[in-house]
Amino acid sequence: MMPCPTLTTNRLTLRPLQQDDNANLRGLLSDPNVRRYLGGPVPDDAISVQLSNMHDDALAYPYWTVLDQTNPIGLISLTPHKDGTDIELSYQFLPDFWGRGLAYEATRAVVDDALARWTLSRIIAETQIANTTSLALLTRLGMVEINRVARFGAMQAIYATKA
Ligand SMILES: CC(C)(COP(=O)(O)OP(=O)(O)OC[C@H]1O[C@@H](n2cnc3c(N)ncnc32)[C@H](O)[C@@H]1OP(=O)(O)O)[C@@H](O)C(=O)NCCC(=O)NCCS
Repeated sequence: MMPCPTLTTNRLTLRPLQQDDNANLRGLLSDPNVRRYLGGPVPDDAISVQLSNMHDDALAYPYWTVLDQTNPIGLISLTPHKDGTDIELSYQFLPDFWGRGLAYEATRAVVDDALARWTLSRIIAETQIANTTSLALLTRLGMVEINRVARFGAMQAIYATKA
């Protein structure tokens, strides 16, 4: 099991995912803007299964609910990547909180803590090349593109932290 420490930044608190975060998660999973490059909004009848899978996953891997003051505004996770080797950074924030550097602040804290705490040679992220805000975030984190793969019907860029 990988640890999921509570992290704090200037404007945010990142704490482990809890069952009572489901309202926040439903908001993220059903939002067309959040889901634009993630396969579209999750249909109502599939949300419960996704929530259950996420909570199961969070027993083994870190999932953080990101809080702005006391309101949940996003979700960040570190989970095994499909390549079977690397740990993948994933992030999603409610659109009301985009464009303020909050996603950067939160992901910066996660990446820095994970690289310092665990014996990881790197962290990777996968995002559609059409998802320019996500690519900008990864670049701001100092990550670099290492590969491209066609997956989920779109071209995906794989980014990695530098050694
Ligand atoms: C990807 C995502 C997290 C990026 O969010 P974001 O708010 O654009 O990212 P940041 O927190 O880095 O904010 C960046 C913007 O805030 C601006 N900003 C404003 N105040 C800032 C501050 N104090 N510090 C840093 N940046 C600031 C930056 O200049 C930047 O704007 P720009 O891109 O026009 O230069 C968001 O679009 C999202 O949740 N998308 C849906 C989910 C998704 O696609 N996830 C990726 C697949 S895993």
